[in-house]
Amino acid sequence: MTRDEQKRAVAEAALGYLTPGDTVGVGTGSTAALFIDQLAAHPELVAAAVPSSEATAAALRDAGIRVVGLDEVPAPAVYVDGADVVDPELRLIKGAGGALVREKIVASASRLFVCIVDESKLSPRLDGPTGDHPEGAPVPLAVVPMAAPLVSARVRALGGSVAVRPGYLTDDGLTVLDVSGLTLDDPARREVALDAIPGVVENGIFAGRRADVVLLGSSTGVQTLEPPV
Ligand code: A5P
Repeated sequence: MTRDEQKRAVAEAALGYLTPGDTVGVGTGSTAALFIDQLAAHPELVAAAVPSSEATAAALRDAGIRVVGLDEVPAPAVYVDGADVVDPELRLIKGAGGALVREKIVASASRLFVCIVDESKLSPRLDGPTGDHPEGAPVPLAVVPMAAPLVSARVRALGGSVAVRPGYLTDDGLTVLDVSGLTLDDPARREVALDAIPGVVENGIFAGRRADVVLLGSSTGVQTLEPPV
């Protein structure tokens, strides 16, 4: 299977985690968009959806799916989203699409997190090579714009290098800094430490709220990864 075929296959496989009447949290990005296509074809499988971005909300509405917020459904049954990196413990890096703040909120609120990726995203370590990033994917930080110089200096002191996404603001008006070169020996600790820098609203390490299941596309079909016991 090609990469696009793998993405389509995992998006379709995610339907198997839905129970009619449930509300589903929906992520952002090209793989999540293919999941929305599946919802459009099977609207009977969900009562409503909680989106992780304005783009996803618009796509869901176009698909005829009722869009609700966490005020109406505080704990969606399932959250379905892609990722930029997946490690064998189902920890993730997310946020290449800039939606990391709302993605982490909806993922954390949801009872089950089903992550859907093609095999290029799987790496032995979160700071290891992926198909798109042979030297490791950057960790995005969503920051209050006026704090960007302070956050950049603090990140450099930790050994990272920082690239500001020029002219880009998230749905919540935040600047995104892409941080390369940080070692992630202990991803959960790094996640907490980055969030502790004043001005950081959220970072793209999903270790505290990792995936519960990863549906991994491969040349031979969809593999289901669960956390090691
Ligand atoms: C969006 O902000 C991201 O977290 C995406 O979920 C992630 O970048 C994966 O996107 P693709 O499915 O487009 O690779």
